[in-house]
Amino acid sequence: MCGIIGYLGYREAYPILINGLKKLEYRGYDSSGIAIFYEKGYSLCKTKGRVYDLEKKICLNKIKISGTTGIGHTRWATHGIPNDLNAHPHVSNSNNLIIIHNGIVENYYAIKIVLSKNGFTFKSKTDTEVLVNLIEFVKKENQLSLEEAVRISLNEIVGAYSIAVVDKSHPETIVIAKLGSPLALGINDKEFFIASDPISFIDYTKNALYLKDGEMAILKKGRELDLRKIGDNHKLNPIIEKLKINLKQIEKGKYKYFMLKEIYEQPKTILDTLRGRLLISTKGNEIICINGIESNKDVFINAKCITIVACGTSWHASLIGEYLLEELARIPVEVEYASEFRYRNPILDRRNVIIVISQSGETADTLAALKLAKKKGAFVFGICNVVGSSIARNVDAGVYTHAGPEIGVASTKSFTAQITVLILLALKIGKYRSVINELRYKNLCQELISIPEKVDFVLKTDNSIKKISKEYYNVNNFLYLGRGINFPVALEGALKLKEVSYIHAEGYPAAEMKHGPIALIDSNMPVIIIATKKGFYDKIVGNVQEIKARKGKIISIVNEGDVQVSMLSDHIIKIPIISEELSPLITVIPLQLLAYQIAYIRGENVDQPRNLAKSVTVE
Ligand code: F6R
Repeated sequence: MCGIIGYLGYREAYPILINGLKKLEYRGYDSSGIAIFYEKGYSLCKTKGRVYDLEKKICLNKIKISGTTGIGHTRWATHGIPNDLNAHPHVSNSNNLIIIHNGIVENYYAIKIVLSKNGFTFKSKTDTEVLVNLIEFVKKENQLSLEEAVRISLNEIVGAYSIAVVDKSHPETIVIAKLGSPLALGINDKEFFIASDPISFIDYTKNALYLKDGEMAILKKGRELDLRKIGDNHKLNPIIEKLKINLKQIEKGKYKYFMLKEIYEQPKTILDTLRGRLLISTKGNEIICINGIESNKDVFINAKCITIVACGTSWHASLIGEYLLEELARIPVEVEYASEFRYRNPILDRRNVIIVISQSGETADTLAALKLAKKKGAFVFGICNVVGSSIARNVDAGVYTHAGPEIGVASTKSFTAQITVLILLALKIGKYRSVINELRYKNLCQELISIPEKVDFVLKTDNSIKKISKEYYNVNNFLYLGRGINFPVALEGALKLKEVSYIHAEGYPAAEMKHGPIALIDSNMPVIIIATKKGFYDKIVGNVQEIKARKGKIISIVNEGDVQVSMLSDHIIKIPIISEELSPLITVIPLQLLAYQIAYIRGENVDQPRNLAKSVTVE
C-alpha cells in the first residue's frame, strides 16, 4: 500500500507531486508528505491526513515549495500510527538523505538495534526511518556514492519496497529501487516522473519504464538513466513502453464518487472484457478466443484439478469460478484464501492448475501464493486487471479483465469483469474437454452478449434502491442470503456494505441460516435475499417464509414477473431473467448500489473508506 511519487526535471515539482499524490490516494490516505529540493537544501512538509490537509499545512506555514526535484508520499500505516512523525518522507540522522518508501522492511528491528549501537536515533516508529539511516551508515562507513550505498543496504533488507532517495547536497540525482512493490518511471525529454502507479504522471508522458523486482535506477537531471540490478550491480537496458491509459478513465466526470461511476460503467466494462474474446460469426457460430488458454490447451485438458487463489472481492469471484468450472468444464475446483495457501504446504505438481485472481495484480499474499505454486511445479494462470502488474508478469499465462482503472477502493467493475472472464474460461475449457453440450454452450454465449444491456436495465433500479437506503441507513446489522452461484454474491454484497458504510453485515448460504444466524432475526434485522427464478427458487421461498415468520425485514432481488417471494417481501428489486450461470453479473448490481447509497446517505467518504487501501501490498 502507500503511494510514492517523484519528479526530476525542469518544471516546478510541487504541482506535479500534489496532483500525482491525489491520484495515488487510493493506495493509502492516512498521512501524506513531500520534500522539494533546491540548490542548497530542501523543504519538507508532512502531516497526518490527506493530500488536501498537506496542501493546507504548506499554505498556512508558508513553506517554500519552489524547486525542480521533489518526492512525495501518501501513507497506509503499517509500522506506527498515522501521525506527522510517522508520515513520509523520512530523513536520516545527518539530515542529508531523504527517502520515501512503499512496502515493509521485515528485518527493520534487528537493523535498528545495530544502528542504535552505532549512535543513531529515531524520531518515528517506522521501518522506513531505519532504512534511510542504514543507507547513511553504509555510505559514511565505506565512503560510497549514494547509489552504491542504496544498493548495498538493499541487499541487507528482507521485505518489500519501492523507494526513492535523494541526497540534499546532490538534488540533481534521485535513486529509485524496487522489490515486491510497484514502481513505474515516466520519461520525457529531460525529465523523469516516479510513481507507484503511472496514472499519476499520465498527464505529462505516456513513455514508461516498469522497474522489475530487484532493479534500481539512478536518475540524473538532463535525462540520464542508469538501470542496474540491485544484486550484482549489472547494467541493464531500459525497455520503454507506451502507456495506453485514457485520461477519461481516471476522472470522476459527472459522478460524485468513483465507486458510483464504476458501478455505472459496468455495461461497458463487461463489453470490453468480452471484446475480441467472444466472437459470433455471421453463420451464427460462437467462438471463444483466449490466447493464454489456447497456447496451453493440453494443460487444461489434462488438469487433475484447479485451485483458485485470491483475496477479498477477487476471492468471492473465485467462488463463482468454482461453481462455473465444475459445472461447465467438469474439473474439480478448490478456492483458497491466498494468505492461507501461501503458508500451508500444498501438495502440487505439474498437473495442478492454479488460477490467481487479482484486480491490482499487486496483492502481496496472492503474489506470494503464485510464487509458491510455481516453485512447486504447478501451472499458474492469472486473471488481472492492471496491465503489467507484478502478478501479470509472474504467471505462466493469463488474461486481462480490461475493466479499465478502478479507483474507488471498494471493487465493483473489476468483480463483474472477473466473473465475465471466468464464464469464458469455463465455457472454453468445457469445450476442450468435450463435456459441455453444444446447445448449452451456444445459448450461454448468446446470452452473454445480452448482459451489458441487462446490466443497464438493472442500473435503472437505482431510484428505488435510494428509497430503500433511506429507510435502512441507520440500522446496525444486515444479513445477505443467496444459494448456489449466488451465495458468493451475498458475501460480496455484505463486504461492499461493510467497507463503505461501516454497518456490520454478514453473507450466508440461505439454507445455513437456520443453523445459527436465524437467532439474529427480529423486526430490526433487514435481510437481503437473492431469489431469482433459475436456481433454487422453491427452496428460497421456504427461507423467505422462515424470515417472515420471525418478523425480519425482507428486501429481495427477484425476477420480473415474480409473485411468491414478492408477496412475502417488504421491498423488491426486479431484475431480468437470466441463466443461473450468468446471474451473478446481474444480481450483484443492486447490492453494489445499495452499499453505495447507504454510505452516501450516512455521509461517508465512499471512495476512501477508513482503514482500507486499494492495493494491499503488505501481507
Ligand atoms: C473489496 C476489495 C478488496 C480486494 C482485495 C484483493 O472491495 O477491493 O477486498 O478485492 O484486497 O485485491 P486484488 O483483487 O487487487 O488482489
